Amino acid sequence: MARKPFIAGNWKMNMTAASGKQLIDELKPLVKGAKCDVALCVPAILIPAMTKAVKGSKIKIGAQNVHFAESGAYTGEISAEMLKEYGVKYVIIGHSERRQYFGETDETVNKRTLAALNNELTPIVCIGETLDERQVDLTEHVLTKQLEKGLEGVEDVTKLVIAYEPVWAIGTGKTATDGQAQETIKFIRKKLGKMYGVKNANKVKILYGGSMNAKNCKGLMAQPDIDGGLIGGASLKTDFATIVNYDK
Ligand code: PGA
Repeated sequence: MARKPFIAGNWKMNMTAASGKQLIDELKPLVKGAKCDVALCVPAILIPAMTKAVKGSKIKIGAQNVHFAESGAYTGEISAEMLKEYGVKYVIIGHSERRQYFGETDETVNKRTLAALNNELTPIVCIGETLDERQVDLTEHVLTKQLEKGLEGVEDVTKLVIAYEPVWAIGTGKTATDGQAQETIKFIRKKLGKMYGVKNANKVKILYGGSMNAKNCKGLMAQPDIDGGLIGGASLKTDFATIVNYDK
């Protein structure tokens, strides 16, 4: 039943082919002995170069979004098949920044998740409440809705990863406490248990995301239901390797 820990970076709209390669070259020796799975989700245009850069290392490359249609008149979009062709393994879906700035909804999260699964990509489905929602005690309600709608029609939940990212903790330096993150992720696992059976829910990797860094990663990773992290800011520097090596 042991779930292999997974540390994923989210570069967001940062780095270039040159600076990205330089960072990966620095990270490669540092993450060599890591016991967890490691990924970097990079801007789409950097995927070919970064896939080359990580060759021979533990690091896998992920994307930050995927369109739900197989192909067609969707100017500016990228399909799951295109990502797969470049050896992409993971794709972040429904990040709160996409929900906030690009009109992403639970419905589009659902369509993208199904498209990714159909193409053997591993979706990293992001869910999380805003500060307002937490303050009026709506966290569980919001997460329930995001899971029920976002995962509709998903047959094998063990093929995806969930990232719990409280919106108030992303890029703010305000991390959820170890206890808050554990308690909420435990709730998510319980909800998945109701949807897919406890045995399957116990196999799903659930990551914490939101100002996770080289200092607070140990405490978060020590929580029984937290299987890893989705790391934004700290994935843009060699600190990322310290997080990957949280157990050393
Ligand atoms: P952060 O971002 O680590 O910079 O807070 C996390 C995320 O948005 O995935």
